[in-house]
Amino acid sequence: MAFQVPKGEEKYDYVQSKFSEIAQKYDLFNDLITQGFHRYWKNQLVGAAGLQAGDQALDICCGTGDITERLEKAVGPSGRVWGLDFSIGMLQAGRSRDPLSNRRFVQGDAMNLPIRTGSMDAVTVGFGLRNLVRLEDGLDEVLRVLKPGGRFMCLDMGKVTLPIAKDIFRLYFFHVVPKVGRLLYPGQDMFDYFPASSLEYPAQEKLSGLLKDRGFTNVSFTNYHLGSTVIHKAYKPA
Ligand SMILES: C[S@@+](CC[C@H](N)C(=O)[O-])C[C@H]1O[C@@H](n2cnc3c(N)ncnc32)[C@H](O)[C@@H]1O
Repeated sequence: MAFQVPKGEEKYDYVQSKFSEIAQKYDLFNDLITQGFHRYWKNQLVGAAGLQAGDQALDICCGTGDITERLEKAVGPSGRVWGLDFSIGMLQAGRSRDPLSNRRFVQGDAMNLPIRTGSMDAVTVGFGLRNLVRLEDGLDEVLRVLKPGGRFMCLDMGKVTLPIAKDIFRLYFFHVVPKVGRLLYPGQDMFDYFPASSLEYPAQEKLSGLLKDRGFTNVSFTNYHLGSTVIHKAYKPA
């Protein structure tokens, strides 16, 4: 039977505990299933955020801090960067990557950010929004913590529409990705959650519409790999 994504609070607890279980090999898993391309997409994401030395940036659903690390380089020593995640395991894996770094890792919920209103020049998220129980609450929180004119950058899976390519990607996500995951963590069902959760996640245009509905402006997106990966950019009105 196909994997059923848990609903409501059950989904919250499932995601929080399961990411902690796979945290130690999460980076390796990412490299394997994207053949290293996630690094390129993350570079593109941070590059397009247009950060300057001294800026303040927040990376929500930061996991082991891949994007957080890139933000830190972009804002330089005079800037400030926070990585926020609700999984202790992922945060611990992130901290152990570079214990001397200046970035701050915070445990918290992306739908209820412990961050001051209007304080961030940019907020980023990578492969995170689709895990939120209430996506709209997450978007409202991003808008709240951004400074007027601040940028929101979101990297996630998109929908492939090209015939044949669509079937090939589906085969890859639903049959190859879980097998790769189980090579690293035998018996772990989290790797069926990944493709299943992408089904409920809005397509590129729909997410753009949602961002506009929540009050973001100048919303745009760029597709990568035939739209299987997408970066959205949106602004808080100045
Ligand atoms: C697929 S990982 C992405 C990690 C990292 N951003 C990356 O791109 O490699 C998703 C992360 O979102 C976190 N997450 C999911 N729901 C969350 C929530 N409500 N609040 C905070 N973090 C959450 C998970 O713990 C996990 O670390």
